[in-house]
Amino acid sequence: MNIVIGITGSIAAYKTCILIRQFVKLGHEVQAVITPAGKEFITPITLSALTSRPVISDFFSQRDGTWHSHVQLGLWADAMVIAPATASTIGKMAHGIADNMLITTYLSMKAPVFVAPAMDLDMWKHPATQDNLQLLRQRGVTVIEPTSGELASHLVGKGRMEEPERIAEVVLNCISAQPSACTNTLESAPSDPQPSACTNTLESAPSDPQPSASSGSQLLQGSVAGGSSTCPTASPAPSPLSGKTVLITAGPTYERIDPVRFIGNYSSGKMGTALAEECARRGASVEIVCGPMSHYPAGQNINVTRVESAQQMWEAASTLFTNAQVAILCAAVADFTPDTVANQKLKREGDGLTLHLKPTPDIARGLGIIKRADQRLVGFALETHDGLPHAQAKLAKKHLDFIVLNSLNDAGAGFQHDTNKVTIVTPTGIKSYPLKAKTAVAADIIDELENIL
Ligand code: PMT
Repeated sequence: MNIVIGITGSIAAYKTCILIRQFVKLGHEVQAVITPAGKEFITPITLSALTSRPVISDFFSQRDGTWHSHVQLGLWADAMVIAPATASTIGKMAHGIADNMLITTYLSMKAPVFVAPAMDLDMWKHPATQDNLQLLRQRGVTVIEPTSGELASHLVGKGRMEEPERIAEVVLNCISAQPSACTNTLESAPSDPQPSACTNTLESAPSDPQPSASSGSQLLQGSVAGGSSTCPTASPAPSPLSGKTVLITAGPTYERIDPVRFIGNYSSGKMGTALAEECARRGASVEIVCGPMSHYPAGQNINVTRVESAQQMWEAASTLFTNAQVAILCAAVADFTPDTVANQKLKREGDGLTLHLKPTPDIARGLGIIKRADQRLVGFALETHDGLPHAQAKLAKKHLDFIVLNSLNDAGAGFQHDTNKVTIVTPTGIKSYPLKAKTAVAADIIDELENIL
C-alpha cells in the first residue's frame, strides 16, 4: 500500500518516526510530506532515512527546481495519514487554506484520509477546533482521537496524539476492511464525538462487486476513539471465491545435481503466500504447493503441500487441480533439470563440469491442456526484456485466462521483495498497476480473478 504521511508542527512529531517504521516494516511504501512548522520538530533527513525517499515540504525542490506534484501524490496514495495534526492544520484542511504542500496534497487526495490530532487540552476543547473536526468528519475524514494524559505544557487532559502502533492498526484495519459497497453519504456525525467506530453508512451492495483494498476512492466517515479498533463494520458482499477451491503454486523448485548441490532460483514464496492468504480471506479453500521456502503460508483453509523439484510440483499440482475451480501458478519452476543425479558429491576435478539438462514438466501448460470449462487458470510471467510480447505468448501457449507480468527491470519488483509491480494481461487487454506491497498486489489479482468467475 502507498501511504502519504503528513507531519505538522507538534512535539508529537517524534512519534511519527515509529509510525513510519511500523508501515515500512509491513511492506508499505511511505512518502512523508512535512509542513514548515513540522520541520522545527523533526528533520527531513530523519524522515527520508526512514522512508528511503526524499521528504516533500515545498512546492518546488530547493535543489533543482523540480515541481512536486501534489496531484500525483493524490493519485499515488492508498491512504493519507496526518500525524500529528495540529489545530492549525485541521483548520486549514476544513477551510481549504492551501498555503503549504501538505494542504494542497490533502485537497488533491483521492484516498481515505486519517488525522491524528495533537494539541493542548484547551485548543482541543475549543469550539473552533471541534467545529473544524466535525466538518472534516462530514467530508469523510477519519479522526483518530487523541488520548488523555500529561501534555507538552505539563497540563493534564485530552490532546496527546494516539500511540503510533494504534494509529497504524486503525489505518490498516480501515483500509483492508473497506467494503465494496461502502459509499460516503456525508451524513452528520454525532455532535459529541465519542463514537467507538466509524459511522460509515452503507448502501446495498452492487451485484458485481469490485472490491480492492487499495482502490482508495471510497471515503470513510467518522472518528475512532481509543480502545476501539473497528472502522466500517458492514459485511461486504460474499466473494465469488467463497466456497471454491484454489490451487496455488509458490516458491522455487530445486533440481538436484548431487547430494549437496542443486539448480534453483531466488523465489522466496512471498507472492504466492500473499495470494494464498488473500484467497483464504475471501472464503476460498486454498491448496498451495510450495517449493523450498523459508516461510510457508498459514491460516484456516490453507493446506500446504511441500515439494522440492518441478516433477514433484507437477505431480502434486495435477492431482489437486481435479478438485479445484481455480489455479494460480506463481511458482518459479526450473525449466531444466539434470539428466542424471549423482549419488555422491561430485569432486572438483579436471577443467570443469559439464551437466546435461533435460526439460521439466511445464505445469502451467499441462494444466492448461487438461483445464475444464468450469476451471480458471492464472499464470505469472517473470521477464527481463520485451515483457508484454513474452507474457502474451505465454498466455496463449499455456491456455491461461490471464497472466500477471512482473519484470526484474522494475525496482522493488519480482523475487524476494515485499513489493511488486505488475501488469495483468488478458486476451483482450492489459492493466498496469504501480509498485505495491505484495499483499495489495494479491488483492488486485484476486479482484481480476473474481471478475472472470
Ligand atoms: O516468490 P517471490 O520471491 O515473492 O517472487 C515472486 C515471483 C517473481 C516468483 C512471481 O511473481 C513470479 O513471477 N512467478 C513466476 C516465475 C516464472 O517462473 O515465470 P516464467 O515466466 O518463467 O513462467 C511462466 C509461467 O509458467 C509461470 O506461471 C510459472 O509458474 C509457469 N511455469 C513455468 C515453468 C514450468 N516448468 N512450469 C510452470 O508452471
